[in-house]
Amino acid sequence: MTDLAEQGSRVGQERANRLAIDGGVPVRSEPLPWELPGVHWIGEEERELVDRVVRARSPFRFYGPDPQHMVETLEREWCEAFGHRNALGVSSGTAALTIALSALGVGPGDEVFVPGYLWVSCLSAVVRVGAIPRLVDIDETFCIDPEDLKRKIGPHSRAVLCVHMSGAPGRIAEIAEICRAHGLGLVEDCAQAAGASVGGRAVGRFGDIGIFSFQLNKNMTSGDGGMLVAEDDALFRRIVALHDLGYPRNEKGRLDSSDEACQLWGMGARMSELAGAMALAQMRKLPRITGAMRASKWRIREQLADLPGLSFRHIPDPAGDTGPFLLMLLPDAALARRFVEALRAEGIAGPPGSLACITMQEWGMHWYFNVPSLVQRRSNSRDGFPWSHPANAFAKDYHYGVGALPRCDEFQARGALLAIGSTLTEADESDIVTAFRKVANGLLR
Ligand SMILES: Cc1ncc(COP(=O)(O)O)c(C=O)c1O
Repeated sequence: MTDLAEQGSRVGQERANRLAIDGGVPVRSEPLPWELPGVHWIGEEERELVDRVVRARSPFRFYGPDPQHMVETLEREWCEAFGHRNALGVSSGTAALTIALSALGVGPGDEVFVPGYLWVSCLSAVVRVGAIPRLVDIDETFCIDPEDLKRKIGPHSRAVLCVHMSGAPGRIAEIAEICRAHGLGLVEDCAQAAGASVGGRAVGRFGDIGIFSFQLNKNMTSGDGGMLVAEDDALFRRIVALHDLGYPRNEKGRLDSSDEACQLWGMGARMSELAGAMALAQMRKLPRITGAMRASKWRIREQLADLPGLSFRHIPDPAGDTGPFLLMLLPDAALARRFVEALRAEGIAGPPGSLACITMQEWGMHWYFNVPSLVQRRSNSRDGFPWSHPANAFAKDYHYGVGALPRCDEFQARGALLAIGSTLTEADESDIVTAFRKVANGLLR
């Protein structure tokens, strides 16, 4: 090679290595697909089932001119697919959480453990039933740390709301064991983890009650919607009454107030047949949706395993991960911000409005101290309920601001997240890996 050619190729190499954020050439120019996993799979099957409901003019599950039994079929197939004894379609995951805590009889005088990495709905469910949220720290699984849970159990502890965050469970079997040993109820929030499992056991089968969400961001979607599962038949009967108008129904679909054990106050959170039809078509695709995300995510993760300064969330059973998010940790908050900005400049970003590649600092009400109504102890009523309830006086010194959970605070500061689309191509995966290696090389060496 002539001196000139050598110089030219060195300049070319330098330009290729220069980060896009510093004026270099980006790895890709096309946005990555939207994260919303089920959305890409909506097609003829959803249309056919929804059409059937419309043609039958029967969008209500319990009676009507010609009910198509979409919600009932969804519940039956859900049980068959995941090994649950009872399943109930509902209008949302948020409603399902409140119903679950009410079904367990949780109320004033009780504290419910919730992790600091969660979604605002987990807190609102506890507060709406009149109980007190008690924060528990997370561990490297980004889910409840069983050691912190054990340390905090006290006379008012009543239940644990264990959240399988970002698609995968943490140490759920240990948490279930702690709940059993201390007589605590266990609700599994599987909103972000439909189709996940540990050791072949589906999420929602470790606790007393499991809840799921079918909102747009979830592994499968009906726009809005959710599911409750429970093994115990009597508990499930309460759940059914609570999700409706406070009473079970007879075989004609009419309210039945004859059972004294089931005269309650309902949530009005029934699932419509239209949502049931959508959810049924989506659940039949769920193994393919989660299979695609899991495969993409672990292929990417394995190719990044050797990068110094970048570490990933610990997932105890990768086979049971559903794969929608790659969670990572950088050495400090400044590097986390710079790393994500640099990735986005390389084209590792979704379409406008998507949250495909972000720092944990941009992840809003997934972190306890970003929920103003928790930190400020807001109430929906004039009297400050439930914070003002005399039976809740035990919690007057509980602190919900930054500093309450050191591990959460640290992971929020130096964490980052890449959403894994359910339709990534080989080329998308290869661009992601190339961009990560390029940025890590530039910033983390
Ligand atoms: C962990 C978690 N719990 C509960 C919910 C509430 O579900 P929904 O939006 O269906 O009310 C969500 C999602 O929104 C969630 O991510």
